[in-house]
Amino acid sequence: MEHRPLVITGNWKMYKTIQEATEFIKKLAPLVENSSAQVLLAVPFTAIKAAAEIAKGTKIAIGAQNMNDATEGAFTGEIAGRMLKDAGADFVIIGHSERRKLFHETDEIINKKVKRAHKDGLKTIVCIGETEKERGEGRTEEVLKTQLSRSLAEISAEEMKNIIIAYEPVWAIGTNQTATPEIAESAHRYCRNLLLEIWGEEVAERTVIQYGGSVKPDNAPSLLEQPDIDGLLVGGASLSPEIFVQIVNTEVAKIN
Ligand code: PGA
Repeated sequence: MEHRPLVITGNWKMYKTIQEATEFIKKLAPLVENSSAQVLLAVPFTAIKAAAEIAKGTKIAIGAQNMNDATEGAFTGEIAGRMLKDAGADFVIIGHSERRKLFHETDEIINKKVKRAHKDGLKTIVCIGETEKERGEGRTEEVLKTQLSRSLAEISAEEMKNIIIAYEPVWAIGTNQTATPEIAESAHRYCRNLLLEIWGEEVAERTVIQYGGSVKPDNAPSLLEQPDIDGLLVGGASLSPEIFVQIVNTEVAKIN
């Protein structure tokens, strides 16, 4: 079986105007043209259209950071997957820990959003991860199992082709407390075993599992050399093209 692709995603969160987004992409595109990694940028809703237009014909794919689980309706302030697709998005991040914590998203809501996103023609990056407290209580694997199985309930092996899983330990996000490669690898291996249990070997082998949480150019190589870490979801360090490009162009030598 072909090896899994390397996928690096920038998650801009609530940063960048349209102009800032387009300037960023103009700078980044030539720098990543020969990269072996796939490059994804999850930009604010308002910048999707302009970002997608400027990224056309480059290695960069544009996506969103959230969506509603309905096709359309009386949901003031919400955005539908088909609107994201219409604006040029290829993918959407679902279930980021900030959405889970600050906007009270449950695994059940996340599951509905994932299903809707696929119906609307969007790929998804589905985030899971334990809090510091849960890790301290020795509950990391239990939390990952619950989040993964519930967020992806009733998703077929075929649909799994459109899903990237992002393991993001909540304690590592925006804290500069990156998980060690060993801690991250152990969680990734556990998630891959869950994929094996639920969907079988082919899905387990081909599904990309990204690590996220205080990824920087200096810790990217040791994370990416782990056998089950297939990419990175980068927040703060994706806001500057000069820094992000170093992560995208990391030379990866996999260890077994
Ligand atoms: P960080 O964010 O890289 O700033 O820790 C990662 C994320 O929230 O996806």
